Amino acid sequence: MDGVSAGRAPSESGTEPVLILGGGLIGLAVAHQLARRGEQVRVLSRRRSEAAGFVAAGMLAPHAEGLSGPLLQLGQASLARIPAWVEQIETDSGLSCGLRACGIVVPFATAQQRDAYPTAVFGTPLTRAGLEFEIPGIGPRWQAGLLFPQDGQIDNRRQLMRALERACVERGVAFEEGAEVLELIRHQGEALEAVRIRRAQGDDATISCRRAVLACGAWSARLLHELPVVPVKGQMLSLQGPRNALKRVLFGPGTYLVPREDGLLVVGATSEPDAAFSKGLTPFGQQQLQAGIEALLPEAASWPPMERWWGFRPGTPDEAPLLGAGPIPGLWLATGHYRNGVLLAAITAELIAALIVYVSLSGRGPITHGLDDRDRELLEAFRWDRFSAGACAASLPS
Ligand code: GLY
Repeated sequence: MDGVSAGRAPSESGTEPVLILGGGLIGLAVAHQLARRGEQVRVLSRRRSEAAGFVAAGMLAPHAEGLSGPLLQLGQASLARIPAWVEQIETDSGLSCGLRACGIVVPFATAQQRDAYPTAVFGTPLTRAGLEFEIPGIGPRWQAGLLFPQDGQIDNRRQLMRALERACVERGVAFEEGAEVLELIRHQGEALEAVRIRRAQGDDATISCRRAVLACGAWSARLLHELPVVPVKGQMLSLQGPRNALKRVLFGPGTYLVPREDGLLVVGATSEPDAAFSKGLTPFGQQQLQAGIEALLPEAASWPPMERWWGFRPGTPDEAPLLGAGPIPGLWLATGHYRNGVLLAAITAELIAALIVYVSLSGRGPITHGLDDRDRELLEAFRWDRFSAGACAASLPS
């Protein structure tokens, strides 16, 4: 099976909506792009408040995260699309997404460490004086840095998620909250035919569907066991600082500080693959964040805490997403975005929506729009079955 040929034509699926399994950021972003392309869309979500889109800090950081290979290419391609994507959401919703082209600074203890960073070539090298200029009050440990002016942030928790929900509603997307997808039902063991759900009220239902997008994030392997997706817990907190006390994101090792327009400082994040789906904050995790704040920006350690929360990143063996055709004909994958879901939402939504429409229309004659060769290559690099059996079982680095 190649990466783009596993779908169904609309002649087979009639006017049945495309089902989106998962109402997090990725699910909503795909739903929105499909609706903009004229598809009927229905989003099924168990509990949207658990979605990583409400948990993440909203960094747009392919360079600051030190990505490499195809994941860096995907991240850079998404970063380039984000302004136009945000404009679409803002136009459809009438709400701001809180995009800030603020740049990100990565600090290092030595210039050697700075120069060895995987994405150093994309950044502006900073000395200690340069660091103090960019980040007044930065801790004394840091002697060198990289400024990535092209990276930034978006206020995912307070603005983007709401704007995207509203944009979907305005574009006619239907929502069913409190609907847990229990099973993917195949026609004679082959193509997707229906999904079985359990509603919050306790009743089960079967929904006929020949096209669906699995966007269940950290919970993906619960629905489809062969997907190599595991939860990687992250704990976070926020502080209220003075407005403009920090103008750029400060991305340290193990802790990062993301300043919102109004002075709220979002602080992330622990990385706890061994925690599995264990809920709640831990003293160790919160102490780790506090120590990170003290090391990065000592004055912020006394700013008042506003909120503390946790969530689950969808981790994969190579830390990159699973995109495109899934193991069941008619099922598409948009999951496994690990640390970069907010960054990758734009390109994921565009590629997956274009792919579904392309495959659906391809039964009807020549296609004049959709996926170009570069998009196909990108999708090919993120096939779900790219891992050997041994690699699938490998655990994520902490
Ligand atoms: N994107 C940063 C994190 O997942 O913690």
